[in-house]
Amino acid sequence: MAIQRVKSKWAKTNSLVKSEEMRDSIPTTKKWSSETLRSMLNEYKMVYVKPDQGTFGSGVIRVEKLENHYTYQLGTRIRNFSGFEAMAASLQTVIKSRTYLVQRGIHLLKHKGRRFDIRVMVQKNDRHEWESTGIIGRLSHPSKIVTNYHSGGTPMTIERLMQSHLTKVQTRNLKSRLRKLGVSVARQLQNDYPRLKELGVDVAVDTSFKPWILEVNTLPDPFLFRKLPDKRVFRKIYRYGLLYGRFKSTKKRS
Ligand SMILES: Nc1ncnc2c1ncn2[C@@H]1O[C@H](COP(=O)(O)OP(=O)(O)O)[C@@H](O)[C@H]1O
Ligand SMILES: [Mg+2]
Repeated sequence: MAIQRVKSKWAKTNSLVKSEEMRDSIPTTKKWSSETLRSMLNEYKMVYVKPDQGTFGSGVIRVEKLENHYTYQLGTRIRNFSGFEAMAASLQTVIKSRTYLVQRGIHLLKHKGRRFDIRVMVQKNDRHEWESTGIIGRLSHPSKIVTNYHSGGTPMTIERLMQSHLTKVQTRNLKSRLRKLGVSVARQLQNDYPRLKELGVDVAVDTSFKPWILEVNTLPDPFLFRKLPDKRVFRKIYRYGLLYGRFKSTKKRS
């Protein structure tokens, strides 16, 4: 049977927050309305506004409430507003009538002045169990607010990105925590989506080293992991992918 794919971030978030274990690791996420934006900005000061069915970081907006003004960034463009109403109206013209989400913003760690987050690959293995098979860091383009490879982000090892933040032992412990988190995410989503085989979990680590789940992809890019120096990681990802039919040719076989 076909591998299950779920596009709606809203649907996946609602599935995850059913689990008490997960709930604490998911930044508050609501459907867009200007009133929701207002109250979440009052509470968190910084939020991300994003399309419910987006990919590659397209359309993702970082919104901030500062001392005396409001600001948002989309792509490389930053816009400033003296009042909330004018900013919300401007955002509404970007969003139009599409489904967008407002999510508590996480202050990502930085490496050489650029933000980074983490992609955890989770797959059904040869024993039909969930296994976290790859962890890779993604460093944002210097003038962007997303880390996606397709938005100019640079894939990099966690060891390198964490070098100035954690000791080697602490980094090893963080990786083990991320692998466990990946498996918990998969088990929870599987309750609602039983035919999932692979997931790409986007994790933000905040400035106190707490991991937050930003989103879960059901069609994750396995080839990103070819960028890692340890070639065993991609080999395993590919091997498991073959087992569940990820790389089948779309052409009819005779
Ligand atoms: N709540 C958030 N806090 C901080 N950064 C975020 C947040 N949401 C998204 N981002 C940044 O934007 C990127 C793209 O957002 P994401 O939700 O993963 O959408 P997409 O499906 O386009 O990848 C993330 O990888 C992260 O760098
Ligand atoms: Mg993403």
